[in-house]
Amino acid sequence: MAMLPSNQVGARVTEVGRRLQLRLTFFLLLFVIGGISWSYADSAAEQPLRRIAFGSCAKQDQPQPIWDSIVDLKPQIFVFLGDNIYGDTNDMAVLKKKWDLLGAQPGYQKLKQSCPVLATWDDHDFGANDAGAEYPWKRDSQQLFLDFFDVPKDSLRRYQEGVYNSQIIGPLGQRVQIILLDLRYFRSPLKLGFQPGEPGEGFRGKYAADLDPSARVLGDAQWKWLEEQLKLPAELRIIGSSFQFLPDEHGSEAWGNFPLERKRLLKLIRDTKASGVIMISGDRHLSEMMRLAPGATGLDYPLFEATSSSLNVPSGNFTKAGIRFMNEVNSYRVGLTYFDTNFGFIEVDWTANPPVIRLQVRDEKGGPVLQQKFKLSDLQSP
Ligand SMILES: [Fe+2]
Repeated sequence: MAMLPSNQVGARVTEVGRRLQLRLTFFLLLFVIGGISWSYADSAAEQPLRRIAFGSCAKQDQPQPIWDSIVDLKPQIFVFLGDNIYGDTNDMAVLKKKWDLLGAQPGYQKLKQSCPVLATWDDHDFGANDAGAEYPWKRDSQQLFLDFFDVPKDSLRRYQEGVYNSQIIGPLGQRVQIILLDLRYFRSPLKLGFQPGEPGEGFRGKYAADLDPSARVLGDAQWKWLEEQLKLPAELRIIGSSFQFLPDEHGSEAWGNFPLERKRLLKLIRDTKASGVIMISGDRHLSEMMRLAPGATGLDYPLFEATSSSLNVPSGNFTKAGIRFMNEVNSYRVGLTYFDTNFGFIEVDWTANPPVIRLQVRDEKGGPVLQQKFKLSDLQSP
């Protein structure tokens, strides 16, 4: 290779340095702009969030009349918690067509015109039933997901691995942080072998708890990101988890399949002193309310979780009398399980002192069928 005179070498180095600097500045700018629009969008908005709707499990090729009831309640935001379509394919053209079918649902179009939609995914819209990190098309599927939810082409979410995202909405003193986790992109394989209990104890699924310390629900980057999010100031925090968080006995998909990861999330909320956390989840084709009491295995305050599923595919379990019924073991459940078509709703009354939260499941007509009511002051870290 021919040698360059030293001044030319210097000029070349300076040129390379300048280019590098330009590139760094560009990425820094992308990070700052992306970070603002991604994590802090609407943080300066004057209107506090009073009505938040959420739901999961929507078959794209079947009617979805539930959107009319959701729109009637005038939610300020809708959170899609996963299984937003049943993709279940390795063919990205097929996956896109299935997203298009959801986009063409008249009710969903009406919702999109009435409020912003935030989203994460679960196994079926990720690409395959009960799939995790091993799903080979996850990069392509992520781009299709982001296309569907109108995430700009230059957003940082296009370059990160996984679809996790967060927003803080509302004025100072009434900020709601919505954290949506990605439980698919990094999730380790599920362990089979759950031992069913005695008849009458309740239904249990097929997965055993994996106590291997390397087994993951979230990847390292997402854990780090989540810690940073939980340290940001907000009065109320809604963590969206596509599959259930609290249940650790039923052996179907849940954080309970990975007890160490479940414990880690509780510890992270405790260690970051994040107040005001509630959980919402989907996936199960059933709805229920849960509560983890404060104490050694939980937080410093009660942790409420609402599971809402499905938007248009109700469970097929019936008694002879035609009642939907399943006795599933779940020590954290409060009240009954609801099996018909439903969506979740969170009402925050900021005018009450202290503010009052109603965490609800509503039926297809929009009426509340399950509710946990508590004060924001009940959810405080010491
Ligand atoms: Fe699912």
